[in-house]
Amino acid sequence: MKKSYKVAIVGATGVVGRTAIKILEEKNLPISEYVFFASKRSAGKIIEFKNKDYIVQELNENSFDSGFDFAIFSAGGETSQKFAPIAASKNCIVIDNSSTFRMNEDVPLVVPEVNPEEISNHHGIIANPNCSTIQAVVALKPLDDKYNIKRIVYSTYQAVSGAGKKGIDDLANGIKGFAPQKFPHPIYNNCLPHIDIFLDNSYTKEEEKMINETRKILKKPDLKITATAVRVPVFNSHSESINVEFEKEFNLYDLKKDLANSPGIIVKDDIENNLYPLAANATGNDEVFVGRIRRDFSVDSGVNLWVVADNIRKGAATNAIQIMEYMMK
Ligand code: A2P
Repeated sequence: MKKSYKVAIVGATGVVGRTAIKILEEKNLPISEYVFFASKRSAGKIIEFKNKDYIVQELNENSFDSGFDFAIFSAGGETSQKFAPIAASKNCIVIDNSSTFRMNEDVPLVVPEVNPEEISNHHGIIANPNCSTIQAVVALKPLDDKYNIKRIVYSTYQAVSGAGKKGIDDLANGIKGFAPQKFPHPIYNNCLPHIDIFLDNSYTKEEEKMINETRKILKKPDLKITATAVRVPVFNSHSESINVEFEKEFNLYDLKKDLANSPGIIVKDDIENNLYPLAANATGNDEVFVGRIRRDFSVDSGVNLWVVADNIRKGAATNAIQIMEYMMK
C-alpha cells in the first residue's frame, strides 16, 4: 500500500463533485494532494476544503501531466469521453460517474458491496453505475445469491438532483411559478415518465441503463428485467419499487434477515408504526434503505421491495469514493 495519494476531482463545482469533496472531508483517507477541476466557467473559483482554499483549475489535455493516482470524474459524458482516456494513459486510475464506459467489456462496473472482485480487472478506467442501478443491486445481490433472481420489474421515483444543478433549479424555480429550463415539462406538481433520451424501442436511456447495468453487475446477461423510470418533484434521494421473482422458494422472515445482514443495507420495515424508507430521511446517508418487504402473491416465488437511497451520495459520490478506498487498501 502506498503511503499517500494524489487525487483529482473532475467536475468539482457540480452537484456530485461538491458532494464528493464533502465526503472526502468526512473521511480520513491517505491523500496528501488534491486538485479540483471544472470547466473554464469556474476556473479561479475558490473551494474551501479541510481548512484550506483550493483554486478550481480548468480541465485541459495537460491536466494529468503532473501525475495523479486517482481521478473521480463527474463532469458529464462528453468530458469523460475526451479526458478519461488521457488521464488513464498517464497512469491515473479514473473512476467515472458518466455512462460513457459502463458497458465496455474491459471496463469494470462496480458497486463495492456487490462485485468488488471486478475492480482488479481494470485497465485504467472503472465505471460507477447509474444511481438508480446502484441502490437496486445493493438490495438485490444478497437475494440473488440465495434465491436466484428470475425476473425484475423496476419502477423508479427519481429526485431532480440526479439531473444536476439544472434539475434542482427547475424544481426550485418551478415552485415559484417559472417555466422549466432543463426538463421538457414542469417538474413541480408533476411526475415525468421521461429520464434521459427516448430510444428506438420506446424505452428511455435511463430505463435501458438500469436493465443493462443490472445484468452486467449481477453477471446475468439474460436476466429478464423491465423498467419505468420517473422523475418526481423531490429534491434529493431516489425511491424505487422493485418487484422480484425468484427461481427458488423463500421464507419471508429469512429474506428480511438476509437483507438486514447484508453490507450497505438498512431494513426499515415496521408498518405498524408507519415506518418505511423515505427520501427525506435517506438524504445525507450512505446506506440503502429497504422496506415494504412483502410477498408478491401473483407469482410462485416473488417479493416487492421499496428501496430508497441518497442518489448523490451512494448513487454517485460515495460509491466512487468507496471504490477508491478499496483500491487504497
Ligand atoms: P462548471 O461548474 O465549470 O460548469 P452538474 O452536474 O451539477 O451540472 O455539474 C457538472 C460539473 O461538470 C460541473 O463541475 C461543471 O463545471 C463540470 N463540467 C462541465 N463541462 C465541463 C468541461 N468541459 N470540462 C470540465 N468540467 C466540466
